[in-house]
Amino acid sequence: MSGSDHRGQSLPDKAKVLIPGGVNSGQRLVPGLEDLVVTSTKGGTFTDADGHVFTDFHAAFGPPLLGHNDPDVVAAIVDAAHQTDLAGVGVTAGEVRLAEQLVELVPSIEKVLLTSTGSEATYHALRVARAVTGRRFIVKFQGCYHGWHDAVSLNVISAPDRIGQPDPISAGSLPDTTAATLVLEFNDVAGLLALFAERGNEIAAVILEPIPHNIGAVLPTQEFLTAVRSECTRHGAILVFDEVITGFRHALGGYQSICGVRPDLTTLGKAMGNGVPIGALGGRADIMDNFSSRPGGPAFFAGTYNGHPLVVSAALATIEKLRTEPVHEHIFRLGDRARAGLAEICRRLDVPAVVTGYGSVFVTYFMPGDEPRNYSDLLPNDADMFVGYRRNLLQDGFFELPLNLKRSHISYAHTDDDIDRYLQAAERAIAAAATNRVTARNASTMGGISTDAITR
Ligand SMILES: Cc1ncc(COP(=O)(O)O)c(C=O)c1O
Repeated sequence: MSGSDHRGQSLPDKAKVLIPGGVNSGQRLVPGLEDLVVTSTKGGTFTDADGHVFTDFHAAFGPPLLGHNDPDVVAAIVDAAHQTDLAGVGVTAGEVRLAEQLVELVPSIEKVLLTSTGSEATYHALRVARAVTGRRFIVKFQGCYHGWHDAVSLNVISAPDRIGQPDPISAGSLPDTTAATLVLEFNDVAGLLALFAERGNEIAAVILEPIPHNIGAVLPTQEFLTAVRSECTRHGAILVFDEVITGFRHALGGYQSICGVRPDLTTLGKAMGNGVPIGALGGRADIMDNFSSRPGGPAFFAGTYNGHPLVVSAALATIEKLRTEPVHEHIFRLGDRARAGLAEICRRLDVPAVVTGYGSVFVTYFMPGDEPRNYSDLLPNDADMFVGYRRNLLQDGFFELPLNLKRSHISYAHTDDDIDRYLQAAERAIAAAATNRVTARNASTMGGISTDAITR
């Protein structure tokens, strides 16, 4: 899977000397894939340095909704590159067109600002919420991920003994900042009501992934989403839907257009530009008007690359294709096929599994029981099976990220044939992982699953 340079040093080895760990994101540090060098991407695939072509269901955590290197998106970027690069002053026609589209499509968005990443969008959402309410506390939910900044980088994939207490994912986070984030279980209406009853007038914002996809796919109950909305309204807190994953992927208007619950602010990213670095924060005009992009706006907002013409052109081309071609119909249908096929395979093999997801997102948890409703429900998931079958899949050229609880994505470039071949490979991969699992369990003196296995 690795390439080498003219002196014979392998590219991964060289990368490890020059780049900490050899990769540019901690989320790309995948045990067993330390030597993976990607040489090209195309449609539903990527190719490694040894020429292996992988059908790519990891999809970079979700952006290439249309498939890698979508020709219309690439053409739009090239056109834009010939026309305008970054001036860093004023506004461009593309930015206005994109804002117009977002306001038209996403129910909660009356005004919108562009960022380069999802983390910036959630950062600014929480900052403006504090600026507007004058309050200190943020509420997030165990299992949801909203980016790398201190206020939200806690309690994502926590070890069982860390659930219910602050669990920062990074050393160096300011304790004052993490202490101002209160964590609840997802779908826990009683917990939500109790927290608001006790501290409602101290809560600036509630932020959530409407479907917590950072732990696979935990579907929200309508009762929960409705309760979050009404408690925020009643207590004057700002409700933020982080639709960085669900936006565009599940519908042009985001999951809010499906569930009918309207947040005050919405964050977008990932699929919005089909793979280029773009994010957005939009919502109620009376909140958005507090940003410093407006004269006197008290909440500072800046970013050298915000609204860069190249990424704006990619977003416009992506949205155009989503509007004019049956993208969602195609990816939802393939998603249903993948889920039904996987469930049938697990039944046939007598492997306890919950196959779930939404639309183009699918995930197989290896555990008995029903649809999970929160992170704690996922603790029985057999991480060795989860990771093991994905490692086995690599041999057949299918790439689902071999890390516990990660979801998989179908793109418009994937085909029925991809799903047919994937299901055949998945059957082999799950059967082999189950056999290994039994062997390992018999050999183990411990018997159970380690905390390590759950959190890796
Ligand atoms: C729901 C959600 N919000 C925010 C982010 C942060 O986005 P970015 O990695 O572009 O900063 C992510 C990234 O995975 C995400 O999944």
